[in-house]
Amino acid sequence: MKIAFISLLVGTTVAADLGSYRVFEQLSEAPAPWTLQTGGQVDEDQRLKLRIHVKNQNIESFHQKVYDVSTPDHPEYGRHLSRVELRDMLAPSQQSYDMVQEWLEETGLSAKATIENDWIIIDGTIGDAAKLLDAEYQLFENKVTGKMTARTLAYSLPASLHAHIDMIAPTIKFGSTSTMRSTLVKNYPAPAVVQSSSGNVHDGLDVVACNSSITPDCLKALYKFNHFRASRRNGNAFILAGFLEEYAQHDDLAQFLGTYAPHANSSDFSTILINNGSNLQQNVSGTQQTGEANLDIQYGLSLSYPTPTIYTSTGGRPPETTPNEVDNEPYLEFLTYLLKLDSIPQTISISYGDSEWTVPPSYAATVCNLFAQVAARGTSVMVSSGDSGSGGNCSALNATQLLYTPAFPASCPFVTTVGATVQVAPEVAVDFSGGGFSNYFPRPAYQDAAVNTYLNKYANTSNNQYFNVTGRAYPDVSAQGVNYHTIEQGSDVPESGTSASCPTFASVVALLNSDRISNGLPPFGLLNPWLYSKAADAGALTDIVLGGSAGCNSQIPDAGFPATVDWDPVTGLGTPDFKKLRFVSTGIES
Ligand SMILES: *[C@@H]1O[C@H](CO)[C@@H](O)[C@H](O)[C@H]1NC(C)=O
Ligand SMILES: *[C@@H]1O[C@H](CO)[C@@H](O)[C@H](O)[C@H]1NC(C)=O
Ligand SMILES: *[C@@H]1O[C@H](CO)[C@@H](O)[C@H](O)[C@H]1NC(C)=O
Ligand SMILES: *[C@@H]1O[C@H](CO)[C@@H](O)[C@H](O)[C@H]1NC(C)=O
Ligand SMILES: *[C@@H]1O[C@H](CO)[C@@H](O)[C@H](O)[C@H]1NC(C)=O
Ligand SMILES: *[C@@H]1O[C@H](CO)[C@@H](O)[C@H](O)[C@H]1NC(C)=O
Ligand SMILES: *[C@@H]1O[C@H](CO)[C@@H](O)[C@H](O)[C@H]1NC(C)=O
Ligand SMILES: *[C@@H]1O[C@H](CO)[C@@H](O)[C@H](O)[C@H]1NC(C)=O
Repeated sequence: MKIAFISLLVGTTVAADLGSYRVFEQLSEAPAPWTLQTGGQVDEDQRLKLRIHVKNQNIESFHQKVYDVSTPDHPEYGRHLSRVELRDMLAPSQQSYDMVQEWLEETGLSAKATIENDWIIIDGTIGDAAKLLDAEYQLFENKVTGKMTARTLAYSLPASLHAHIDMIAPTIKFGSTSTMRSTLVKNYPAPAVVQSSSGNVHDGLDVVACNSSITPDCLKALYKFNHFRASRRNGNAFILAGFLEEYAQHDDLAQFLGTYAPHANSSDFSTILINNGSNLQQNVSGTQQTGEANLDIQYGLSLSYPTPTIYTSTGGRPPETTPNEVDNEPYLEFLTYLLKLDSIPQTISISYGDSEWTVPPSYAATVCNLFAQVAARGTSVMVSSGDSGSGGNCSALNATQLLYTPAFPASCPFVTTVGATVQVAPEVAVDFSGGGFSNYFPRPAYQDAAVNTYLNKYANTSNNQYFNVTGRAYPDVSAQGVNYHTIEQGSDVPESGTSASCPTFASVVALLNSDRISNGLPPFGLLNPWLYSKAADAGALTDIVLGGSAGCNSQIPDAGFPATVDWDPVTGLGTPDFKKLRFVSTGIES
């Protein structure tokens, strides 16, 4: 909904003095690998869309509400909120809008502004933004990719507006090396060819073949859902989210299904394009890729079959930012798109992430609140935990004190974060499986007991200095993450990473949500309170106790975390056992 800002607010008058400008957010320097391009000239006339997030009302009681409707045995369990109920609860105050309007009028920008819910969007130029925010936009270069971007190291607002605004973008947010990396591990050692024979098959699981490489049949047998059939027509749907010009290929999917999932042979995915995203078929080139998107859609569709499966491709391109830049806060675009829908698909898988420290706290908080809103609507969001164990560079956060580096949005307490395992006999933690403790989000109550047990009983306390023991801990769960057979431009390619684990766990959740809906129950929404209580108590997740993660081992020789009994920051509560999860969820035995 776009409303001309000026006409919506016509007639309101605000006499308050907005006060003098004060710094609102700043960085001491650009985060590596970004460096100031000395001598570079910012084009002041370059078009720039500035997004102002006006503070929501009732945000704390809203967070509690999300936990209440997600906590089994709470009287409000399963009573998710509609779009209108959510808006009524969270809408910014009229006073906040009025004050921002007065500011934009004073600075001559109100004609370029529109309101979209709690966002005010100014379609202007870099020069407009610089003037409005008393900011100096400069050119920065990413030393790894060569990409250029216009950003500022500080921006200011009139003092009285500080209490009414959460963040303004784009300002101080730089992407990491490759912004919003898909969490694919390149060059994980390819599997030896393993001869399979019927003598190795136990309960439908080929323990020898599946021990070294993964197919849909391996996962369905290992996680015990090969006999469950979901409904295609009960209103349940599953989104595999794509960003960064990752394009899912229909012909590769058809070949994959023919080879590895003939039960789903005639099935295909639908596509939703957001923010001028696209999903080109064949001949992708330059920055365009297909590896992540193909992996996500090939496994997401075949495992959740016949659940309707949707690939979303969210664009992030000029003119919102500067030329040659792919990043444009794509989570904001993706999540605000979803929240405008009357009904949101019940399960979402996101195999993308960044180091938490590259994301400004204000941006992380705003995006995490949007995930909370999606959860409040009754949707379960799964996110990859990352592929650097406890973090690859322990001097990235602080040059003088070594620290592990957590990932975002894995660290948001309103998503379910998925780590990775390898081998099936037995299933063990894989060294790259991302995990750790957030520096931004405190530990939510739902995981307090589980994480305390880990810290008090199993963690090597001499390593506690490297992470924030009070933070939101992740992953919550895990699934196989090594050597998935995928079809890439007609060839069989092994893919690895929590990128693979995430759509696999999410597929199990899509099936569980389908089962709930078919049996007249609400979908899960935020899964975590249920996972840490009902599912864990029933032993419905297989505890992974062998192996562990690595990290910055050249800086801290024993960096990383061990997989232990119960929850640990490598495999979370463990891997899914669909039969038991289903029984805990609907009371139905498969
Ligand atoms: C699975 O692979 C691991 C590591 O190679 C090996 O130790 C184990 O014996 C294998 N199990 C089976 C059943 O092949
Ligand atoms: C897949 O379906 C097509 C027709 O839709 C059929 O020709 C083909 O044999 C099927 N392949 C498999 C492996 O079932
Ligand atoms: C949308 O993306 C296409 C390329 O995929 C580009 O040519 C076009 O300029 C973009 N449009 C806008 C409004 O950004
Ligand atoms: C893709 O490229 C090949 C070889 O260059 C060409 O034959 C084919 O027509 C192209 N396909 C499309 C859809 O552009
Ligand atoms: C780690 O990060 C710091 C700060 O960004 C950087 O100076 C350093 O070069 C990085 N070290 C490695 C090994 O990447
Ligand atoms: C880095 O760590 C040292 C030692 O704990 C601390 O004194 C310093 O304030 C930290 N620096 C930053 C930028 O956080
Ligand atoms: C540790 O996490 C808490 C939130 O749980 C945060 O307030 C605090 O600033 C973090 N400490 C550091 C050193 O990042
Ligand atoms: C705990 O960490 C310390 C320091 O890295 C190491 O010397 C010690 O062997 C570790 N203890 C265990 C039980 O792993």
